[in-house]
Amino acid sequence: MSYPYQIKSLEEYKTAYKKSEEDPEGFWDDVASHFVWRKKWEKTLDWNFIEPHVRWFLGGKLNITESCIDRHLPAMGEKPAFIWEPNDPNDRVRVVTYNRLHKRVCQVAQMLKNNGVKKGDRVCIYMGMVPELVYAVLGCARIGAVHSVIFGGFSAQSIADRLYDAEATFIITCDGAYRGGKDIPLKNIIDDALIGNRTVKKVIVYTRTRTPVSMIKGRDVWWEDEMDYAETQVEKDGVVHFPAEEMDAEDPLFILYTSGSTGKPKGVVHTCGGYMVWTGYTFVNVFQYQPGDVHFCTADIGWITGHSYICYGPLTAGATSVMFEGVPTWPDAGRFWDIVDKHKVNILYTAPTAIRSLMGFGLEPLKGKDLSSLKILGTVGEPINEEAWHWYDEHIGKKKCPIVDTWWQTETGGVLISNLAGITPAKPSWATLPMPGVHPILVDENGKEVTEKDEHGLYKGNLCIKNPWPSIIRTTWGDHERCRTNYFATYPNLYFTGDGALKDEEGNFRITGRVDDVLNVSGHRIGTAEVENAINMHADVVESAVVGYPHDIKGQGIYAYVICSHIHGDEEQTRNNILQTVTRVIGPIAKPDKIQFVSGLPKTRSGKIMRRILRKIAEGEKGNLGDTTTLLDPGVVEEIVKGKL
Ligand code: PRX
Repeated sequence: MSYPYQIKSLEEYKTAYKKSEEDPEGFWDDVASHFVWRKKWEKTLDWNFIEPHVRWFLGGKLNITESCIDRHLPAMGEKPAFIWEPNDPNDRVRVVTYNRLHKRVCQVAQMLKNNGVKKGDRVCIYMGMVPELVYAVLGCARIGAVHSVIFGGFSAQSIADRLYDAEATFIITCDGAYRGGKDIPLKNIIDDALIGNRTVKKVIVYTRTRTPVSMIKGRDVWWEDEMDYAETQVEKDGVVHFPAEEMDAEDPLFILYTSGSTGKPKGVVHTCGGYMVWTGYTFVNVFQYQPGDVHFCTADIGWITGHSYICYGPLTAGATSVMFEGVPTWPDAGRFWDIVDKHKVNILYTAPTAIRSLMGFGLEPLKGKDLSSLKILGTVGEPINEEAWHWYDEHIGKKKCPIVDTWWQTETGGVLISNLAGITPAKPSWATLPMPGVHPILVDENGKEVTEKDEHGLYKGNLCIKNPWPSIIRTTWGDHERCRTNYFATYPNLYFTGDGALKDEEGNFRITGRVDDVLNVSGHRIGTAEVENAINMHADVVESAVVGYPHDIKGQGIYAYVICSHIHGDEEQTRNNILQTVTRVIGPIAKPDKIQFVSGLPKTRSGKIMRRILRKIAEGEKGNLGDTTTLLDPGVVEEIVKGKL
């Protein structure tokens, strides 16, 4: 397989970019024509950013699994689609060929059908990183059900909220998941999430850890039994067949919940046609994938990175992906390097937080590991600091692997700003240039384009995008107005990313971080309002304010200022009780790193919490806290500074 849409030189990048500006529809018609469609689209694009209303490839019919699987079968059926590396390095590796993937996906599709799942139904998937998770995702896509994968680190309450919001009718889960030295009892968590739920009809349970589970008659069924039966239906005389449902280009493919600046996570909706084209196009171009390369994206499929660059993007390219069940530091900090060595990985795509954490173990875990197969490195999820960039370059890439710093978001579906490996120049800690078809702009508070350089000769502002690309968010599930206010209302006619950025003379972008109330903890997005809501649910808490602070490994840590009505036991006990509450309400990923008890919070006379001041205190600032004269009670600031942890 070759990729006619692969950019092979800086010159070609410039030409592609120019064409995407001058004739966007012609440009995307051409790219999209290299994917499998049942029926060609009638109109390429229809959009306005006011409602917002964005439709790509209108009237086009397809099923994404045909581009991801079926088209590869004649020539590459026996090529590995996935190499699955288990949590425990001594357990058996599983290699899933395209033929095998096809069979399993057809079986899942049949199993879902047997259990009453129909096109358009929402299926919640809450599983560990096992190949069955990919089969489940693609099985949904095959029959046109909308999948909503929930990361294994979310609590029962979080799942319950998402099930309710999506009105999900089916769940696919595991008895448990291995993560390093821990077993996470996924099915038990699902059982808690289902207390009081009125929409879910069936729960399909895959056996991974043999953790005891309570199977409820009439509701819960075993994956293994259902798949065995489905096998007899989809396979006849050695030929596997399950017709893929014909989908409209704009039918929803999946919902993925993500945090915003309000208390409630929102369901980002991506559609079949545009998402397929964008993930396929960016995968091949950003990573400069060559047929036969082994690609290893270390993310979890519970996040957008796993959706786009473990599952859909690589599969559209007929690539071989490593899927890893475990964590980078268990049984030791050499786990990634073992995997690179063992599976001769060519492309490694990970998060800066993982690099910083592994850097902390020194060079010992790298001893004896052959990393010479590596050709390209990538990072995603948060700004990468120069120290981590250089360590990655020197010790992992041995200074011969281009590093792509890929900036994007759940809402963008795939990479929007990044260098193309070895094709466009890299610049440490800069995401660099936009992908063809993406027109970023920096604006000031009032939405005016920034045209003046700062003292360092750089443009600085809030990052917006002027035009739609094929995998832009279409809506937030069940609440289109929320999509409008969150992304399209701050600055008229622009998509607002929520990030701040710098731009240099050559048009390179450096993303500096969120400018809204969203934290980025270990590359995971967490809304401060969400954490505050969770803390405030604790019986002894009167009020709280949450801010981020610089954290050496996580990028940002969570700092909570909490007013309690009384301290139950001692401070340490109350702190632990609050942590337990957050774990229950959101999940362990949202636990504050620091909790400071205070008697008041700095507020303006109108009652608004002055987060700017709290942020500065959490960052260690003592003197220069800015103007505090407008505060209701300036004395409270002094007390907070004194008590800083
Ligand atoms: O702040 C940006 C940061 O991660 C946010 C998006 O988070 P999420 O939707 O969870 O998706 C993460 C994986 C795509 C962005 O608003 N971010 C992502 N990539 C980068 C980044 N910040 C700086 N540099 C990046 N390469």
